[in-house]
Parts: sequence; C-alpha cells; structure tokens
Amino acid sequence: MAKIVIQKKIKGFNKVISVDGDKSLSIRSLLIGSQSYGICKIRNLPKSEDILSTIEGLKKLGIKIYFRNKICFLYGKGLSGFNYKKNIIINAGNSGTFARLLLGLLVKSPNKIKIIGDKSLSRRDFKRITDPLEQFGANFFSKSKKKLPLKILGSQYLKPIKYSENRGSAQCKSSVILAALNVPGKTIINAKKSRNHTELFFKYLKLPIKVKNKKKFDIIEVVGEKQFNAFDYVIPGDISSSAFFIVLTLLSKNSQLKIRNVNINPSRIGFIKIINKMGAKVRFINKRNICGEWVADIITKSQRNFKPINCPVELNSNAIDEFLIIFLLASRASGISSFKKLEELNNKESPRLKLASEILKKIGVKVKMKKSSIKIFGKPNLKVNKEILINKYYKDHRIFMTSVIAALCLGGKWTIEDVESHMSSFPSFLSILRKIGYKF
Ligand code: S3P
Repeated sequence: MAKIVIQKKIKGFNKVISVDGDKSLSIRSLLIGSQSYGICKIRNLPKSEDILSTIEGLKKLGIKIYFRNKICFLYGKGLSGFNYKKNIIINAGNSGTFARLLLGLLVKSPNKIKIIGDKSLSRRDFKRITDPLEQFGANFFSKSKKKLPLKILGSQYLKPIKYSENRGSAQCKSSVILAALNVPGKTIINAKKSRNHTELFFKYLKLPIKVKNKKKFDIIEVVGEKQFNAFDYVIPGDISSSAFFIVLTLLSKNSQLKIRNVNINPSRIGFIKIINKMGAKVRFINKRNICGEWVADIITKSQRNFKPINCPVELNSNAIDEFLIIFLLASRASGISSFKKLEELNNKESPRLKLASEILKKIGVKVKMKKSSIKIFGKPNLKVNKEILINKYYKDHRIFMTSVIAALCLGGKWTIEDVESHMSSFPSFLSILRKIGYKF
C-alpha cells in the first residue's frame, strides 16, 4: 500500500504531452482482434493493468499475443477460434469492460469458464450482462448470477435476440454486439446513447452492422457468423486520462498545455461540453480520422473564473468517467452546480458519488448529495490549508488521480494511499506530472 505525500502546489508550466492509449479502444481492439483471422498489429497499446488482464485472459483462451518494437501482435483464429480447455479461470482484475465484453464472446463455450475479479470488480453488478446473454442461450452459474465470481457455459443452439439497453451502458451494449458476432441471424439492439466505439470498430472492419441514430436511442442491427480478416489499428490517447491534465492546467496559475493525439469521438466528449458550459476554454486542433475514430490535439491554459452548471442529464453517459474531475472544477465555480440522475456513478470501481461528496466535504466544500444527485457549492477562492488523508477508496484509479490533481492545485498537505491504483488505466500519470515539473 504505497502512499504519496503532496504538500506543494505545482508551479506554472508550458508543455506538450501525450497520454496513454484509450482504455475502451484498447480492450476492444484485443477482443475484436481475437475473433479475426490472421495477425493483427495494434499500435500504442498501453501496458496498463486492465489491458494486461485482457491479454492474459485471451492467452488462456489460446490466443497468441506478444509485443515487439512497441507494437502488439495478436494472432486471431477467427470466430469460434478460442481453445476452450476445461477448468479455465480468467482473472479480469479491476476491469469491468474486459469482464463484461469477454462474456459476450464466450456464449459458445462448450466448457464452463470461470471469471473472477479483484475486490472492487467483485462488488459490481453483472446481472446487466447475464440477463441478455441468457436470452441468447448462454448459461450462468454463481451464487447470485449478479456478481463475480461466475461461470459461463455457452451453447451450440444460440438464437439472435431483441434487446433494450436502457442504462446508457456501453459495456452492456458492446457485450451484446460481441455475442451477436457469434450467433446466426440478426440481433437487434435498442440502446440508450453511450460511447459507440464498438459500432465504429465494426464499421471500420466492414462487419455487418447497421446503426440508425434516433434522438435518445440508437437502433443497432448485427448479423452474426461472418468471418473477417486481421487488421492494423492505432490506439489514440485517452480523453478520460487527458481530463486530469486539462483540469490541472485550468486550475493552475500561468500554465499552458497541449495534449497530442487524443480520441475525441463525439460520444466521449461530454466532459469537454460540460466544462465549456462552465466557461473553460479548451480547443481541438489538427482534427483527423484514424481507423474510423476522430483524433485531435487538445489545447488549454490557466483560467480564473468558472461558471456553475446545471448539468444536462443527456451528457451523463458521455462524461461518466470524468465526473470526479468535473466536480473538482465545480468546487472552484462561482456558484452552485447541480448534477442529476447519476446513480450509475455509484456502480463504478468505487461508489464514486458517495466518495466524491466525502472528499469535497473534507476540503471545505459544501455539498448536498442525494441517492443519484449532487449539488456543489463552488468557492472561486477555494484553498486547502490543512492535512487531508485519502484512504479506503476501493483503490479506485480515478479517485487517486483526482485527489492528486486537487492537491496540486488547491494546496494543503495531502497523503493519498494506494498509489498503484492508477496503473489500471493510466500508468504514465506520475511520469507525466514529473515531465511538467512536479518533483515527488
Ligand atoms: C466503458 C463504458 C463505461 C465506462 C467504462 C468503460 C466501455 O461503463 O464507465 O470505464 O469501454 O465500454 P458503462 O458501460 O458501465 O457505463
């Protein structure tokens, strides 16, 4: 349980950085690659713990994967190409995305496969995945069918389904899309808007997917059992990781930052839209399309004033991983910000709504939290002059990184435990901080 002590604010900086590759796209490229025929080359794949769990899991299913010259080589064996040995146990570690999407790919397994995870993943809901996968014909064995550990036994008699995804969860939607790949016939999904990386990946590979965009929902049709070839893919930088450095720059004095090659998929930039509404000036330059995804360089600089926000709920799903850092910005706004319908935040790596409210109170910010909403009473001159201890937060990587950013821009003496937590999504986090001038 390593801890970090921060007792000085960061000094003004003017830097160009790159953040680690996007977590959602990395996991998808490995899982989709495992279903292709031939040798995939995946570039800029981060060696974060969630990605290493994905690689280890796929290796257990007979997929050869290795790194050479910073490129990840993956030997796809086509649909139905997994090697289903008896008594396989796959450890998804901290990664909900890997565990949930992988289950979609296992609907044909002739043997039971056990999926386990760390303490945080083992408290998260899996019924949202077992329900639709059971409709396809897969079977689940566990105490509750609601949580890990659970065992999946596939079926050779799968049938396509009609499925309504009402949470705005891209993991649920994507698990069903990946299952549909292996099922004969047409699966139809009516999905509340959420990140659409899986759909764009399928389109990039010319797989049989159709998407009709409605105002709040997308209707997605996938025709299964079409084999496809291996691919060459470049993972862009992660906007969720960039968010920490954008807020650090906005809240620090005399600072400027450029972040190169970040994925700016419209379904991922809720964070940018929200902070723009709060008056933050963040610009995209050099926009281009790479492997079917939009990528840009992001530019921002220090600012003094931020407006409070009544956050539109339709942005929730597109900013779901960024709310902790958005709350930090809201605590420096000139008034009361309000965020609603955020019950999903308590189903993440930690109960984030609850923990965010506790941490904000610790640093002297007034908050009013209800089951699914939070009001933050911003203080434009917020400063911390006392000792703050951040511990017992389920080793949630985003709580760790948000706390470090808060310490670096608000002052006080912070002791933040479980440093290793950030390795699950953003291993370069501390080395980038060193690059922009902070000495730990
Ligand atoms: C993800 C979807 C989101 C997000 C997670 C990654 C994905 O979760 O919080 O970090 O890659 O599909 P939900 O699908 O549960 O909303």
